[in-house]
Amino acid sequence: MTDTLLRGRLLTFNHAPRSTDDTEAYAYIEDGALLLRDGLIAASGAHAEVQALAPDVQEVDHRPHLLMAGFIDAHIHFPQVQIIASWGSQLLDWLNGYTFPAEAEYADAQHARSMARRFCDLLTDYGTTTAVAFCSVHKASAEALFHEAASRDMRMIAGKTMMDRNAPDAVLDTAQSGYDDSAALIAEWHGKGRAQYAITPRFAITSSPAQMEAAGALVAAHPDCFVQTHLSENHDEIAYTAELYPEARDYLDVYERYGLLGPRTLLGHAIHLKDREIGALAETGAHPVFCPTSNLFLGSGLFDDAGLRGRGIQSGIATDVGAGTSYSMLQTLNEGYKVLQLRGQKLEALRAFHWITRGNAEVLGLADRIGTLDPGSEADIVVLNAHATPAMALRMARAESLAEELFVLQMMGDDRAVVETYVSGQPQKGGGEAAA
Ligand code: GUN
Ligand code: ZN
Repeated sequence: MTDTLLRGRLLTFNHAPRSTDDTEAYAYIEDGALLLRDGLIAASGAHAEVQALAPDVQEVDHRPHLLMAGFIDAHIHFPQVQIIASWGSQLLDWLNGYTFPAEAEYADAQHARSMARRFCDLLTDYGTTTAVAFCSVHKASAEALFHEAASRDMRMIAGKTMMDRNAPDAVLDTAQSGYDDSAALIAEWHGKGRAQYAITPRFAITSSPAQMEAAGALVAAHPDCFVQTHLSENHDEIAYTAELYPEARDYLDVYERYGLLGPRTLLGHAIHLKDREIGALAETGAHPVFCPTSNLFLGSGLFDDAGLRGRGIQSGIATDVGAGTSYSMLQTLNEGYKVLQLRGQKLEALRAFHWITRGNAEVLGLADRIGTLDPGSEADIVVLNAHATPAMALRMARAESLAEELFVLQMMGDDRAVVETYVSGQPQKGGGEAAA
């Protein structure tokens, strides 16, 4: 593979900013460069120094734009691409009315393949280079997504959803078939190239105790897989879960008692938590995932970011498309900012951009591979333009600091602000077609 030099303004994070003037938290280089080689960042630093390492290299000049690590979406549903923006209900009606019928179509491998292509195009058009994705219940849907991601050398963490009750037959497996299909997918995909498997019991309502037990057996047999599910998103969901699992101390205990909690466990939403559940999250190292556009769209509630952080819990942040209303991690930060305003909390721009890059990478235990521009990292990079629209340009005329520029991107940015997205060193932007 040939080397490439990307020139631009570099921003990468060393740790989460502890305050607005925590300049140790990040490195910013006004005239910087990244040397990309064999899908990795071979060198990163001042342009003159990096260029001196490879004087004859092909250079792509992205000045005056910002180069950052590609965004990481820690919770998204691949088979919901055609039900994003479906009108008017809260969680359980939305699942029954829109979601399950749409997911039933993914039994058709052809459909799954076609949508997997669109899904990956959308992710990269919006600057997302790694996603943690729910597939449908059908093994073919996970195969389609892993194949598509592999064809682009894109890091993809995904799993076939396990669900054996309380949904139409067309989207149900059984405890045994859910186990067998998941085990076969793990054998085929986990650790192959950039693919990683997430064991995916959808949530307590759609998995019987027998299926939870099967999920626990998969976790015990494959401790280096991720686990993804949903937790305490909606009051009706929580009440129904308590009826279905009367022996559980609370919602989280359903997952805890089947051995599903650990540092590789991602729990979407986690809004309405009891004190015991927060303690158990801290103890097990499991990660809540904040999904602001979804939580506002379904009227689910306001995530307590500062409260969880104060207990030593590290949360992820995600779109949760199709209940989430945008593929953009920038728009996710925008709505996240507003959710936290309603909580009397703040989402400062530097912390926000740390969260969607290194922060989510740390949640995944992958910060040595993705989420930064450090040499040795995989070459997943986003190029951002804070002047992308007339309204942004007008606002930027008065911006006086990096933090202000980032805040404009956070509040006003979307795919138009993403000039280019590199996955394993290869440019992706604009590769997809408009939907027919
Ligand atoms: N809980 C169980 N399944 C889902 C889903 O698909 N989306 C959301 N937002 N919550 C869920
Ligand atoms: Zn979800």
